[in-house]
Amino acid sequence: MRMYDVIHKKRQGGRLSPEEVRFFVQGFTAGEIPDYQASALMMAIYFQGMDRQETACLTMEMAQSGDMADLSPIPGVKVDKHSTGGVGDKTSLVIGPIAAACGAKVAKMSGRGLGHTGGTVDKLESIPGLRTALPRDRFFSIVKETGLAIIGQSGNLCPADKKLYALRDVTATVESLPLIASSIMSKKIAAGADAILLDVKVGSGAFMKTREDSLALAREMVRIGQSVGRRTVALITDMDMPLGRCIGNTLEVAEACQVLRGRGEARLAGLCLELAANMAYLAGQAPDMGAAREKARAAVDSGEAFARLRAMVQAQGGDPAVLDQWESPRLSPLVREVPMPETGYITGLDAEACGLAAVELGAGRETKDSPIDYGAGIVLLRNKGDFAQAGEAIARLYAESKERLDRGEKRLLSALQVGARPPQLQPLVLDRVEGM
Ligand code: URA
Repeated sequence: MRMYDVIHKKRQGGRLSPEEVRFFVQGFTAGEIPDYQASALMMAIYFQGMDRQETACLTMEMAQSGDMADLSPIPGVKVDKHSTGGVGDKTSLVIGPIAAACGAKVAKMSGRGLGHTGGTVDKLESIPGLRTALPRDRFFSIVKETGLAIIGQSGNLCPADKKLYALRDVTATVESLPLIASSIMSKKIAAGADAILLDVKVGSGAFMKTREDSLALAREMVRIGQSVGRRTVALITDMDMPLGRCIGNTLEVAEACQVLRGRGEARLAGLCLELAANMAYLAGQAPDMGAAREKARAAVDSGEAFARLRAMVQAQGGDPAVLDQWESPRLSPLVREVPMPETGYITGLDAEACGLAAVELGAGRETKDSPIDYGAGIVLLRNKGDFAQAGEAIARLYAESKERLDRGEKRLLSALQVGARPPQLQPLVLDRVEGM
């Protein structure tokens, strides 16, 4: 087989056979197929698409390109969750403990933040002492004892996707439905859970900018999950404005704890309960979504969910006492309040620009090796839909230097739109897709 012929066939709109997909994935992972040929194939797929069978085949080949986690030593239904990336998205820190308190087993591998989106591993590592690299047996025993553990992705999980994603990132081929679906699902399948919940974001801060595109992506991923015997549900959720009030690692851990104590902002808390209820349902802990919602709410109200997070933090070497602090001494030393530039309603607060403002403050990474300031970030005192007088504080910024505060403030103000009338706020959960 020649790579030239595979590229030519796809360029002409042909359908790749399972052997051709395997030839490409194995050859590319082994370094036998050069980047320029892989890039040409990615561009051909971008324009010509892939049908269901090709997409499922690409997914499984990528999943099998490295380690396939075997979670079978952990008794019970293991459920995983994936978000397509957001700003202020601390939901994993909330819903893992709620789902665990409902009886699900959550053995989760998470990623770090890059660009304007944050990552759960960075948030967890802002807790002093907490380790996200654990030996397999310790990871399993924590899940058995507490119902959940969250670690960083193993170095050899889906190496084909790692290489291919880096190539797509620099060849303008990220925004392709079959390529995104296979990239996400290959990692979820390799991570080994029995059931998968997908939080597909839509809006300015997301890959998918329209509801139709995000629904199509969600349907494709649910189909792939089903075709390999994993119970899969996807929720389409709004990412036009930041999620909750805090952006930045230490701040987001504190906000997650507020939600677990029943004191979180209403929209964020509502989304977390809905996601957690879906996890409990997928794990077979409730016969229907109504019962799952009740169980999730009871897990928060009783304090059991927060207790699960404390137990996980302690088991992973972290200091659970910091979970009780809101105004944390670990926040960056310089603080600035950002005034509303004119009187009116906040009609837009662009999620991507807010994420970039947090990066300017030091809370995120510009490149994958940049250092991170865990204490930097933003507390939004007002969000989209709120009214404020000119000069009233709408956000509080934390950073290590005045230069960073200046850059963060400028970027945050660029996210802001002000109008005379209140905007229409979308519901946070827009759609739900479940396999048959
Ligand atoms: N997230 C992924 O993991 N892969 C993509 O292709 C897009 C988002």
